[in-house]
Amino acid sequence: MKVAIVGATGMVGTEIIAVLEAYNLPVDTYYFVASERSAGKPIQFKDETYTIIGLSDAVEKKPDIAIFSAGGATSFEWAPKFEAVGTTVIDNSSAFRMDEDKCLVVPEINADLLKSTDKIIANPNCSTIQLVMVLAPLHKKYGVKRVVVSTYQSISGSGMKAMRQLENEKNGVKGEMAYPYPIEGNCLPHCDSFTENGYTKEEMKLTNETKKIIDPSINVTATAVRVPVSGGHSEAVNIEFESDFDLADVRKILHEMQGVTLKDNIDTNTYPMPLYAKGKDDVFVGRIRRDESQANTLNLWIVADNLRKGAATNAVQIAAYLIDKKLVG
Ligand code: A2P
Repeated sequence: MKVAIVGATGMVGTEIIAVLEAYNLPVDTYYFVASERSAGKPIQFKDETYTIIGLSDAVEKKPDIAIFSAGGATSFEWAPKFEAVGTTVIDNSSAFRMDEDKCLVVPEINADLLKSTDKIIANPNCSTIQLVMVLAPLHKKYGVKRVVVSTYQSISGSGMKAMRQLENEKNGVKGEMAYPYPIEGNCLPHCDSFTENGYTKEEMKLTNETKKIIDPSINVTATAVRVPVSGGHSEAVNIEFESDFDLADVRKILHEMQGVTLKDNIDTNTYPMPLYAKGKDDVFVGRIRRDESQANTLNLWIVADNLRKGAATNAVQIAAYLIDKKLVG
């Protein structure tokens, strides 16, 4: 079993390496791949030092799996080249997510869709993953009719440049800007670029990807906000069901959902927060309460480490599933 990590030096790539070290998959050979700028440089994995290679060299190695986190343009150009040599690509970018013939996978929800003939598999957007992990089990029982989601997204989702912007602003240093405005002491209702309908791409990803993963009949409307938090996305979510629900049963369903941890006790100020989700693979849910303004409706609060379950962990879990079910190699 040969696995390539494409974008190994990036923010998500670094998390993929950390998750792979923890998961201990039955892999014989790893290849660490980045741009030609990084090719030849050393990179640590477990206790060994590997040499970073470029994309052409990586294709020649014909890996069984390639996990891509090097941006949409690299995925568009290179994923088909890996596919052509028989590699199964797990892609973290948005390049293939809405392709009708590509699976968009959160393993706890829909890994059973995967077949050995699926050679490019899309990893959903970070905000979508943590949302659907909570919606999917509730939809099974009560039928989700409509979701109103407001996100509080960390700057790590915008990459290194954004991390540097916040650091510079904290230290009073003038530097390159990742956002059109200061992020320190601010909230930007603007994640990714704006689309023709007045929503941002991030907001439309939440809508379209949730429908694709769970059920196209679910109505989703989103406001995505960037906040000066270094890591971990939060979401305030209002969920209207087809039928009435039992609050204790909602808690039980979420407690039993694999990959979801309930943190919900107002008596002890227990609720999910990005500081405490950092470096964890689970999705955390709390502040579960009835919406008293409307029938069959619930409010809750979801937090996850966007670089972990929102990206690296989900991708590694897809790889683990493919290996376990012998869909690759
Ligand atoms: P490099 O470090 O050599 O630039 P981030 O999203 O954190 O900026 O990381 C992007 C990742 O994708 C990095 O590992 C980066 O490698 C890699 N990358 C960017 N452009 C390319 C490219 N054209 N070919 C291969 N890897 C790329």
